[in-house]
Amino acid sequence: MVPFFALVALLPAYVVAQSPVWGQCGGIGWTGATTCVSGSVCTKQNCLPGAAPPASTSTTVVTTAPPTSTASPTTTSATSTATTTPPSDGSCPATPATITYNNAQLADIFGFVAGGRATTKDQFTCRQAEISTLFQRYELGTIPGKPQSVTASLSGNTLTINVSDQGKSISFTASVSKPSGTGPFPAIIAYGAPSIPIPAGVATINFNNDDIAAQQDGSSRGKGKFFTLYGSGHSAGAMAAWAWGVSRIVDALELVQATSGIDPKRLGVTGCSRNGKGALVAGAFEPRIALTIPQESGSGGAGCWRISDDMMKRGTSTQTASEIVGENVWFSTNFNAFSTKVPTLSEDHHFLPALVAPRPLFVIENTAIDWLGPESTFGCMQTGFEAYKALQKTDFMGYKAVSHPDHCGFPAAIQPQLTAFISRFLLNQSANTTVFTTDGKFSFNAASWINWTTPTLT
Ligand SMILES: *[C@@H]1O[C@H](CO)[C@@H](O)[C@H](O)[C@H]1NC(C)=O
Ligand SMILES: *[C@@H]1O[C@H](CO)[C@@H](O)[C@H](O)[C@H]1NC(C)=O
Ligand SMILES: *[C@@H]1O[C@H](CO)[C@@H](O)[C@H](O)[C@H]1NC(C)=O
Ligand SMILES: *[C@@H]1O[C@H](CO)[C@@H](O)[C@H](O)[C@H]1NC(C)=O
Repeated sequence: MVPFFALVALLPAYVVAQSPVWGQCGGIGWTGATTCVSGSVCTKQNCLPGAAPPASTSTTVVTTAPPTSTASPTTTSATSTATTTPPSDGSCPATPATITYNNAQLADIFGFVAGGRATTKDQFTCRQAEISTLFQRYELGTIPGKPQSVTASLSGNTLTINVSDQGKSISFTASVSKPSGTGPFPAIIAYGAPSIPIPAGVATINFNNDDIAAQQDGSSRGKGKFFTLYGSGHSAGAMAAWAWGVSRIVDALELVQATSGIDPKRLGVTGCSRNGKGALVAGAFEPRIALTIPQESGSGGAGCWRISDDMMKRGTSTQTASEIVGENVWFSTNFNAFSTKVPTLSEDHHFLPALVAPRPLFVIENTAIDWLGPESTFGCMQTGFEAYKALQKTDFMGYKAVSHPDHCGFPAAIQPQLTAFISRFLLNQSANTTVFTTDGKFSFNAASWINWTTPTLT
């Protein structure tokens, strides 16, 4: 395993103004923002939602410089504070800077790396922060927090967003199509353009994600406006850069809300295939997204690396970690070291629903296309659903898979459930959002993948 420090040491030094909710705000080797956006507080090393903890539990932000050698640290404050139960003072267990892990099964959603399991909703918030850290560290690269300046205007159908940070600036646009009337309307941010039907009464915002981070092929690394702002050597892969872009669209919608006719508290995000992977990541990392709808995202999105590897081993040609790192730049180069050693990865994609939770999530899959790893997605999302069970919000996550030949086409069979999720969570109408169904093409043997139990979080 390539030590994390070796990768961190290569990053250009840059400083961001404030970290977003879940974002990193401290820790060994951290050189980024040490303050959090309002509504969150820096606890140990992540910005957790909520108010500052009582003074007696004041947080210590460790901001030592990254070691210049690639040697693993012998002792760090992170590892030395490892505990077997979550701290009782309301603070979060520190995530060790170096993690030795080897598990062919799907890791425990609720278990802290340093030991102990979340049994309360507060502790689960800590675990979500840890999951965010793990994903950024090992797969996605760092998602920068709120930049120093974001300005926006909505003129006709064009939302213009100007961003400046540390002396660099970019400007990008998103096209907005609104229902007639004055609103305010909910809106769905679509990567590229929507490939699900957007109902009447909901605005559509087309996000040109390729403009923020290119995804032509392996040569796209470091290309796009995100990298103009943060440098072509930034650790972010395209999905992290896009999630940052979605957050800036939400910033912009908050800035123009008095006149835009769009309600920034009722925003959905969607995308299909590679853009479905991106939409799921954006929903996981941006808590202001009210409804996340990844469509046919497959391996690298709603599929788990471990199950996709297993499908491959059993003879189904499916996108795997070892394939994906050579195909495109969706992930950080941090991920390369794990692509052929998936069991050493301390996270997997069943953790993505656990980051979205308890916010609403509706996962659309297609069982006809083996390359998407539909069996992997089914098992992965069923495992991720345990987070919603633990939070007693089982009707806030839905999953529906049908078999149809056109990748990213929208089958009518999914319409009732899509309508239910949008009605309930964006249009504020009552609807039955209890759904977890597939066409029965395969089953998921939970006992062979899950060796932990799901708590009822109090
Ligand atoms: C589950 O498996 C992992 C990896 O083998 C192991 O470390 C862990 O202790 C197991 N958990 C339980 C509850 O058996
Ligand atoms: C964005 O930047 C452009 C070019 O600098 C400028 O003309 C425009 O007024 C800016 N728009 C906003 C909303 O800040
Ligand atoms: C949603 O609907 C309920 C019941 O009809 C109403 O009380 C509430 O104000 C509505 N909320 C919004 C944000 O429109
Ligand atoms: C909601 O839909 C589910 C799945 O179709 C069904 O089992 C359940 O009975 C429905 N609940 C209500 C309250 O209608």
